[in-house]
Amino acid sequence: MDTHRKTERLMQEQSEYLTLSDIELAGKSVLVRVDLNSPMDPRGVILDDMRFRSHLSTLRELSECRVVLLAHQSRPGKRDFTTMEPHARLLSRLLGKRVVYVDDIFGSHARSSIERMQDGDVLLLENVRFYSEETLKRSAEEHATTHMVRRLAPYFDVFVNDAFSVCHRPHLSVIGFTPLLPSVAGKVVERELHYLGKGVQSDTPVLFVLGGAKAEDSLKVMENILGRNPKSRILTAGLVANLLLHARGIDLGAPNVEVLRSTGLLEYAEQAAELLQQHGGRIELPVDFGVDRDGERENVRVEELPVPYLIKDIGIETMATFSERIESAQVVVMNGPAGVIEEEEYKVGTFELLKAATKAGCSLIGGGHISAAVDDAGLRHRLTHVSTGGGAAIEFLSGESLPGIEALKRAAQRHRKQR
Ligand code: 3PG
Repeated sequence: MDTHRKTERLMQEQSEYLTLSDIELAGKSVLVRVDLNSPMDPRGVILDDMRFRSHLSTLRELSECRVVLLAHQSRPGKRDFTTMEPHARLLSRLLGKRVVYVDDIFGSHARSSIERMQDGDVLLLENVRFYSEETLKRSAEEHATTHMVRRLAPYFDVFVNDAFSVCHRPHLSVIGFTPLLPSVAGKVVERELHYLGKGVQSDTPVLFVLGGAKAEDSLKVMENILGRNPKSRILTAGLVANLLLHARGIDLGAPNVEVLRSTGLLEYAEQAAELLQQHGGRIELPVDFGVDRDGERENVRVEELPVPYLIKDIGIETMATFSERIESAQVVVMNGPAGVIEEEEYKVGTFELLKAATKAGCSLIGGGHISAAVDDAGLRHRLTHVSTGGGAAIEFLSGESLPGIEALKRAAQRHRKQR
């Protein structure tokens, strides 16, 4: 073996997880976890195809395989918790070949469809979250004993995890196949770990801007970041800002408290209050908001609360002060939009903060719904990295290990032992 190949081999041995190039794939039957979870309008139209596009490089590498895709859309109880049919249509268009949608996950219809596949075929199974055991917090070994894994695993030679954005969830379709099948990281997971790895430096001052609707995730992330990196600071927007203001004893007005109640966030008010007590000096809250007053955007200062109108964005003064901090940051990490970006008038805050991020030393943008705004504002190429992951990216950047990645590492160790 020549020196170059020896070095390459050594690097492979040392890499913690396997990738597509580590395994002979042609003619194999491959199960791929992708993340196609995307914003949808009330008519069921997919509003952002970023995650679909992100998977194309992996799918093209698997063009000589029989490829079965596992994916989810939204969560039970949400308006956009729906079937994967529109996703198969959109993916077919982007991939340039038919992606067959099967309205079943592991029943006889799914299994007979898999049996009939030819090399080069791609099939998308039904929303995995329609199966109640999907989201149970279990170990990979426990998930591996479920009906879903036991029924599906025998049909496959390899499991590919290409769903970086769900790697923070210890869900069945993310980790449950790894104890049974040779398991490798897809191109998306590889790319994300490469870029986001640059942002996990505990001695660098990192400015985090946290917004969006998943406020319970943001609280966890804040606890981690503030505890681990003494030079980090947090700017808050979206529902997490509302929750923190509520926890500070500020009455937001009935419609806004009702949003916190109906999304289950009021349960986190105590945790939010403790966080403010411990790290209040490093957490900044908005000083004003854009509210929806009978269909018109109006600016309301925190001192003017409560108001009987819905808060839908950060206000003008907050945009200015937050932008200044972001522009001068060495590393800025933004996750979650600052307002309701689906509505024209309430995109402004998110756009302004993203524009400011293009001037920061290094800008890492958590994916999820904020990446739609990145494209809308035409800023994708002026930012260092736009992740496909929202929660996953931010958990990784806050120093947490991700169950999906850990499972790939354990699978790689097993694979090497068996050789
Ligand atoms: C995301 O959009 O962040 C991922 O698809 C995970 O979705 P979840 O937060 O509903 O688990």
